[in-house]
Amino acid sequence: MVIAANFKTNLTRYQTREYIASLEKFIHDNSVRQEVFVFPTATSIYAHDGNVNVGVQNAYPTKNGAFTGEIGVDQLEEFNIKTVLIGHSERRHVLGETQELITAKYEFYKNLGYTIVYCIGEPLNIREKGMDEMMNYLRAQLIGIDMNYENLILAYEPVWAIGTGVTPTNDDIVKIHSILRNSCKRPILYGGSVKADNAKEILSLHNVDGVLVGSGALNVNDFCSMINDAENIK
Ligand code: 13P
Repeated sequence: MVIAANFKTNLTRYQTREYIASLEKFIHDNSVRQEVFVFPTATSIYAHDGNVNVGVQNAYPTKNGAFTGEIGVDQLEEFNIKTVLIGHSERRHVLGETQELITAKYEFYKNLGYTIVYCIGEPLNIREKGMDEMMNYLRAQLIGIDMNYENLILAYEPVWAIGTGVTPTNDDIVKIHSILRNSCKRPILYGGSVKADNAKEILSLHNVDGVLVGSGALNVNDFCSMINDAENIK
């Protein structure tokens, strides 16, 4: 399974290194077989050599150039980063990224062979319109996205479940992941209020291939507990 931590705008460079060192020790000591990813803030990335895959939460579709505030391939290559998160709802809704820019990022990093964790998810007002409208909304977030890309990991994160402590019902997660499965043979993660105390249940659901965790992963022991849950699922 894929167990991923998105730090968002949390933890310093020092804290990130301490966190990843603890995580490496846990993975080593427990012979963990899961694929573990950590997405620190851009200022905390470094060239990491180990079992933890360190990725970035965002990158611009460029090698370098005049894109104030952004980072590109030159900056990623300096730290041997080969994984990028694209389409996170906070970038869509808080930072105003359009599907056009998101698609451009996807194509650009796909062509360079990066592992892409591609996020989709519906806001509450769409959710309230029912399943058909909701699936149309999610499908629109997949337009222009090559679902057959071999290094794609899809993450379904309902916007209303992110940081709220609320999750969809297990039945709904299964239903939505099963529909997504028709167009995606790659791993499909669930994200949104995954915590140490509900991870096992969510990871056990049909067509859930892992989790993408925000606040619930900021404590390394909690994140390790989720990895341990994944290890113990048959
Ligand atoms: P929370 O786990 O804090 O709800 O955030 C989920 C998320 O956005 C991960 O990318």
